[in-house]
Amino acid sequence: MKKTIINIGSLVGIVPAGVLRKQGAEMSETGILEQAWLEIEDGNILRFGPMKEMPRLNRAPEAGEVVDAEGGMVMPAFCDSHTHIVYAGSRDGEFLDKINGLSYEEIAARGGGILNSSDLLHETSEDELFRQSMQRVREMMAKGTGALEIKSGYGLNPEDELKMLRVIRRIREAVPAVVRATFLGAHAVGRAYTHESYVQAVVDMMPDAARLADFVDVFCDEGFFTVEDTDRILTAGAAYGLRPKIHANELAVSGGVQVGVRHDALSVDHLERTTDAEIEALLGSKTMPTMLPGSSFFLGLPFGRAKEFIGAGLGIALASDYNPGSSPSGDMRFVMALGCIRMRLTPVQALNAVTLNSAYAMGVSQITGSITPGKRADLILTWPGWTLTKIPYTYQTPFIRQVFLDGQPQ
Ligand code: NIG
Ligand code: FE
Repeated sequence: MKKTIINIGSLVGIVPAGVLRKQGAEMSETGILEQAWLEIEDGNILRFGPMKEMPRLNRAPEAGEVVDAEGGMVMPAFCDSHTHIVYAGSRDGEFLDKINGLSYEEIAARGGGILNSSDLLHETSEDELFRQSMQRVREMMAKGTGALEIKSGYGLNPEDELKMLRVIRRIREAVPAVVRATFLGAHAVGRAYTHESYVQAVVDMMPDAARLADFVDVFCDEGFFTVEDTDRILTAGAAYGLRPKIHANELAVSGGVQVGVRHDALSVDHLERTTDAEIEALLGSKTMPTMLPGSSFFLGLPFGRAKEFIGAGLGIALASDYNPGSSPSGDMRFVMALGCIRMRLTPVQALNAVTLNSAYAMGVSQITGSITPGKRADLILTWPGWTLTKIPYTYQTPFIRQVFLDGQPQ
């Protein structure tokens, strides 16, 4: 099955094969081709080039379907390497608490927050949980997301954690987007446990969780799990081949970055509160620092020091953190806009952060996240007249004409 997109105003996000992430000065580079065509075969990008040089064959009927972009821009679909979209119900009551002045920590300390979602999830059947979660996945795909990571972490006991992981597996099988699963048993201490007994329970869940999950995560932060707990859980995960992705430095300078890097984490995420020691720890590692500006925006936390990270030679990824407590949105275009408006990333830096680097942060940058021959054709086609800069600039104007996932229009 072949398909050719012709009359592309600009083809943005071209990356040579073999480049799996961007760091430092590379963050400011991306390949752009004006007046281009792009050919898709069996769901993958086959080749592309300038319209002037398009082979005659691509116009012939046997070349397959022709999509006329009419001057619209084509870019890689967004990659969202950090979400909690499998949850039940809503936490809109807490939204009012927040408006009335309670902090995230205060809401959690009153038994709300993650434990509130855990109670709701316990009462919800697996089918219903799948149904609710699929609505969010469909919303994200319509907004241009082509790859996403989904965490467990609202189960907080063996049965419910596995229920979540099974739902993520079902989503993975049901959608054309690339889906990866993370076991976040250590998201909060389950109601039936003491802190110590819960850390042990998470370690004990590892063999079953590892059958369904690709990665292991720990909320290593003040009031949640310590560096020692994290070390134990990551060691247990490693025995089952689970690479870490860590929640660190959201509420305090937690030591989570350092313990994550020691365990060769694929990513360390949040990073609202970091010192130069965290930058030092990350330099020379394979770990992708991942910032979640939607949480900073929603909770009123500092935004990550993205510019300084890049200036020091690091890459960064941006992800949505879509969850009912700290970031009730999976809109990666808004994440990109916050990256530019609040973190002062250039549009090209923000693009790299929401595509290739975010794909790297969930271990899929060899198959998606850029315009590269051989990668999946996960693409956004914009309406005519759009440029990369306008996407975060006029950040609420609809810009997507069509999303293609695995080469198929959605
Ligand atoms: O990444 N910080 C920890 N976990 C989520 C929030 C989860 C929730 O409040 O439901 C986060 O922000
Ligand atoms: Fe999170």
